[in-house]
Amino acid sequence: MTVESPLADRIEATRTQALDAIAQASTLDDLEALRIRFLGRKGELTTALSAMGKLPAEERPRIGALANEVKRDLERRLEEREQALGEEALRRRLETERVDVTLPGTDWPRGIRHPLIQALREVVDIFRRMGYEVIEGPEVEWDEYNFTKLNIPPHHPARDMWESLYLSEDMLLRTHTSPAQARIMESRQPPLRVIVPGRCYRNEAEDATHGIQFLQIEGLVVDRGITLADLKGTLHALCAAYFGPQRKIRFRPSYFPFTEPSAEVDVACAVCGGARCRSCGFKGWLELLGSGMVHPNVLRFAGYDPEVYSGFAFGMGPDRLAIQRYAIDDLRVFRENDLRFLEQFR
Ligand code: DAH
Repeated sequence: MTVESPLADRIEATRTQALDAIAQASTLDDLEALRIRFLGRKGELTTALSAMGKLPAEERPRIGALANEVKRDLERRLEEREQALGEEALRRRLETERVDVTLPGTDWPRGIRHPLIQALREVVDIFRRMGYEVIEGPEVEWDEYNFTKLNIPPHHPARDMWESLYLSEDMLLRTHTSPAQARIMESRQPPLRVIVPGRCYRNEAEDATHGIQFLQIEGLVVDRGITLADLKGTLHALCAAYFGPQRKIRFRPSYFPFTEPSAEVDVACAVCGGARCRSCGFKGWLELLGSGMVHPNVLRFAGYDPEVYSGFAFGMGPDRLAIQRYAIDDLRVFRENDLRFLEQFR
């Protein structure tokens, strides 16, 4: 049905014009602009309808119906075009960003923990399972803690056992983790059961078994009634856990100013099992750690009564442990950063 009226013509003309423009719109922004231009509150269709008031009453429903029909028509076309443009955009993106899923992936090199750190963590874990608490001490240490409180007074020849790197008259890079013993005893009361991992420094000529910087793990137990049997049992447990129960160890009397009696623990050579070979220098045994019963003076310096409390202590290098476990004959390989060596500990 055609409606003969100038207003109807105007509405039809708007429809034609709008449909043309919609068909030619090439972006979603264009479409939005057209929606506003034709259907908006001040849009062309709306303005055309505002002229309705001047029409005779009997024409109004027909023009109104036409206007509504045109409005729905335009809305539908806008929506269709919007969908078409969206699909088109997606298709173009998929085309340009196509991924060949059959290509081999990019291999990111994954690092591993350094074998010495692995050894250190493993030993710390073994002690943690035995109920030890892990603490740390400073790497820059007072002479007093590194030596004096460990029963090595100034000018005592025992200081020559450690090739120290002094930073000033009374301060040095700690030569061992033992000063942490004095620190923890001063700050707490027994019972104590602590393990102290950390870095130490010595002024040494580097060779197969010495470096100027190295790791140590210190242990200290203080309580009433601690005996040498507790020390032996603990270190046997450590070696059994770290090397396996088959590996032989031995206690050899030794001397440390801060323990009395003192003992070193040797482990049977990883290569010959104690039968003596080239790799153990025909000794059959290799030195693993130092240990002993805490010297009464050391307890006294910390304010503990040696008549009431006793304790044992030990200090070891994870590098020594690691070379004995893996039968490595030169400590320096750990610090050369040769990936071919390090990768074996993955
Ligand atoms: N601090 C000693 C060193 O570096 C090792 C050591 C020996 C630690 C006996 C101890 C110990 O706690 O009781 O050579």
